[in-house]
Amino acid sequence: MSAFILDKLLELQEKNAYPLHMPGHKRNLNFMPYDFRTMDLTETGEVDNLHNPQDIIKSSQSAMAELLGAEHSFYLVNGGTSGVVSAILGSCNEGDYVLVASNCHKSVYNALTLSGVKPIYISPEITEESLCGGINIRNLFRAFENYDIKAVIITSPTYEGFTCDIKTIADVAHKHNAILIVDECHGSHFVFSDKLPHTALSQGADIVVNSWHKTLPALNQAAVLSVKSDKVDIQRIKDSVSMTNTTSPSYPILASIDYARELLTTDKHLFTSYLELVREARAELVHCKVLKLVNESIKGEHDIYDIDITRFTIMVRSEMSGSDVAKILLDKYNLQIEMAGPHHIIAITSVADDEKGIKKFVKAITDLDKKLERKFIEKIPFTSPNVFEPEMTPRQVFYSQKEYLPLDKAVGKVPASIIMPYPPGIPVVSLGQKFTKENLENIRLLQHQDVNIIGIEDNKILVVKS
Ligand SMILES: Cc1ncc(COP(=O)(O)O)c(C=O)c1O
Repeated sequence: MSAFILDKLLELQEKNAYPLHMPGHKRNLNFMPYDFRTMDLTETGEVDNLHNPQDIIKSSQSAMAELLGAEHSFYLVNGGTSGVVSAILGSCNEGDYVLVASNCHKSVYNALTLSGVKPIYISPEITEESLCGGINIRNLFRAFENYDIKAVIITSPTYEGFTCDIKTIADVAHKHNAILIVDECHGSHFVFSDKLPHTALSQGADIVVNSWHKTLPALNQAAVLSVKSDKVDIQRIKDSVSMTNTTSPSYPILASIDYARELLTTDKHLFTSYLELVREARAELVHCKVLKLVNESIKGEHDIYDIDITRFTIMVRSEMSGSDVAKILLDKYNLQIEMAGPHHIIAITSVADDEKGIKKFVKAITDLDKKLERKFIEKIPFTSPNVFEPEMTPRQVFYSQKEYLPLDKAVGKVPASIIMPYPPGIPVVSLGQKFTKENLENIRLLQHQDVNIIGIEDNKILVVKS
């Protein structure tokens, strides 16, 4: 017998690879000075109740709202996922048209199914190196011209650290009487420095979801949903948050959000010195030719409004794949990065990183860069319409009978899941959309280039039975 999970975690603890990934506490005990194991309680009466906060949780949530510039902030112990679902359940009605950026996270697609709304998809722009860019404003207007949209849902920043022009998107949405929901799960740290992109809430978004655990020193699953809007029914949001979060909320998670908020609000110097470190790292990495750091020069292109400088998105312009680079970083340098794609890697830093860790990463990348030969990387052959309404709603897809079909037999059917190459992380076929001959040709080209495609298994896809 083995304690399978525990044994693996103990092995990794022993190996102690430096974490350039989430969660943002980076296992740094200076940013986690309390033994949260001894704080794992139930609602004894003294510690308030997340589902009806009247005391310490209420006070902490109010302090959070003040920090974020929100009217209301709700703590979440089921991650940003529960926040995204609550935002949509709490603000949209069954049958409403909702404009959804097609690069959104799985939790948005799940929320579309749960809420029974009718999505209209809008595809973001794509960079020269096949990364997902921002939302084009002309396309946004086109969507509003054709549909009576009640809410717009976008992801900003993206996984690669690119933000959209939130202010303009919010203005357009409000002019058409719609609300703007922003999945800002990867940008919770923006509020702590004016050297980082503006927060979505400060730019006019109505509802914003932040996964504090991703980029701040808080435990996994710690997240916050905030509202600043006269168009949102707060009681309904509160009920939705309650519906999507466990009735046994973890006090260690709640305490970790509270602690991170208090620490970073009081000690502003922590973020100043962290960003100094980030700037020094970027200044060195910018000289690499093969492992090419995506830098601020990309702003303004492909509707990318701003970039998160704390996130190191690095293109791998070599024979080697991103996964090969990730393996070398782990095996040779004991550095664990967040993600590796065919032609890029992502390393996530946070205020809890130590100087030694970041310097080790910079040295590893610069050393490796010198050994690699540069190769031209072709843009992936990807096509997706700008704005489109799918044939079925995600809810109709969910409740349908399904079958697996080989790709060529699936033409004309509606797939039961999104079919998405990563990169760019934008679906070729969004949920509810019919699979066409052009999609098939596109997928064949992508497969020819060894691009990983989510939603295809052994050349088969799950489709709605007709
Ligand atoms: C863009 C985006 N939104 C939402 C989520 C869900 O957040 P969480 O993991 O906190 O549930 C993720 C998770 O990776 C994400 O990448």
